[in-house]
Amino acid sequence: MDLTDSQHLQQRTDADWMAAHWMPYTGNRDFKAKPRMMASASGAYYTMQDGKKVFDGLSGLWCAGLGHGRKEIAEAVGRQAATLDYSPAFQFGHPLSFELANKIVERMPAGLNRVFFTGSGSESADTSLKMARAYWRTKGQAGKTRLIGRVKGYHGVNFGGISVGGLVANRKLFGQGVEADHLQHTQPANGSFFRGMPPGEGPMGAALADELLAIINLHDASNIAAVIVEPFAGSAGVILPPQGYLQRLREICTAHNILLIFDEVITGFGRAGAWTGSEAFGVTPDILNIAKQVTNGAQPLGAVIAKQEIYDTFMAAGGPDYMLEFPHGYTYSAHPVCCAAGIASLNLLDSESAVQRVRELAPHFENAVHGLKGARHVADVRNFGLAAGITVSPLPGEPAKRPYQIAMAMLAKGFYVRYGGDTIQLAPPFISTRAEIDSLVSALGETFNATA
Ligand SMILES: Cc1ncc(COP(=O)(O)O)c(C=O)c1O
Repeated sequence: MDLTDSQHLQQRTDADWMAAHWMPYTGNRDFKAKPRMMASASGAYYTMQDGKKVFDGLSGLWCAGLGHGRKEIAEAVGRQAATLDYSPAFQFGHPLSFELANKIVERMPAGLNRVFFTGSGSESADTSLKMARAYWRTKGQAGKTRLIGRVKGYHGVNFGGISVGGLVANRKLFGQGVEADHLQHTQPANGSFFRGMPPGEGPMGAALADELLAIINLHDASNIAAVIVEPFAGSAGVILPPQGYLQRLREICTAHNILLIFDEVITGFGRAGAWTGSEAFGVTPDILNIAKQVTNGAQPLGAVIAKQEIYDTFMAAGGPDYMLEFPHGYTYSAHPVCCAAGIASLNLLDSESAVQRVRELAPHFENAVHGLKGARHVADVRNFGLAAGITVSPLPGEPAKRPYQIAMAMLAKGFYVRYGGDTIQLAPPFISTRAEIDSLVSALGETFNATA
């Protein structure tokens, strides 16, 4: 078969042909029996192989807020691939990575100004954890190795990330990881229907952060390198920090000399109605991880952004100038084609005032999703910026089944939404209209009510 014959490929769904690709985070048997093949995408819509137009209710995987098929990004990628398709990531440089690093720093909270490039959110997570341990060792405190994550946290799929992560399904198959402790999650009880952040009072409020003190009491801060949290947890179904919670974590980390890492792979670059979740919630970490929206999903690229003092510590301890200060990096760190996509994407976020647009749309989105309260099976709704998680009351013994059924019924209606655990997740593109948000949520309400 001629593999360039895309029209021919568009028709193929035979089982033998599909067997070779072991698909990630997908029920392979279900997919290969009933394929859901995307053919193209433009703006806020996918077109599937059968010609069906589908609204992108999750911006791809939380990454394509500017919508699909953006000419400016496609042209930058094409130009760069033709000019310098690859440059050795180690011991050589190219101007685009420095340009992109500066553009990223301009959008970070004050003081976070040293950018280490990776190829994905998972690589950012593991890079940040290694950076934290190496930082303390470099400062002569080699005992500070313990890492603290959070129940329901998601930090990608590499060994460090799954160890600090707190979604058990992502860990239970894989045996021994990196030693880690976990703070409690901050998900309010079903039926809370908080709009935005839960209140700070009460045992499920800011006081939850004091649990970190108990972990410090157990291990002593002299053994703890870092705490890593998502400003709001995305993959577990949009779980917000209660008022004052992140501030309290910051205070405790500062008081005990523990690095605070924010995993902003979802919250970075607009989703939270600010450049970062750090900005949205008014708390600055020591290290901040990004990926996804930085290239609008058009190329794989992530980064870890550190305080200058962390960078300076490595430089000061680096030995002779020709020696490496941080023996870490990936073949595709700062890949020139990905950097080109990143620069074009950040330019578009600016020229289209996309972050401002998220802020303007957020109240409308909030009203729409909270209108789902009272629909059949809706146990809770949580939202922030242009992200929402809806907890689905479970079928006995099969908590993940109803969300799957709902997502498939939504697809039949022309809407892509994500199902994960016992939740449905929404993250529409920043370019969505109010009418599109209304149709998405109203189709979801009808689907909930029609589901057994
Ligand atoms: C907070 C967070 N960290 C890390 C990751 C992993 O990113 P990737 O899939 O690019 O490795 C994700 C992906 O959803 C994420 O939400």
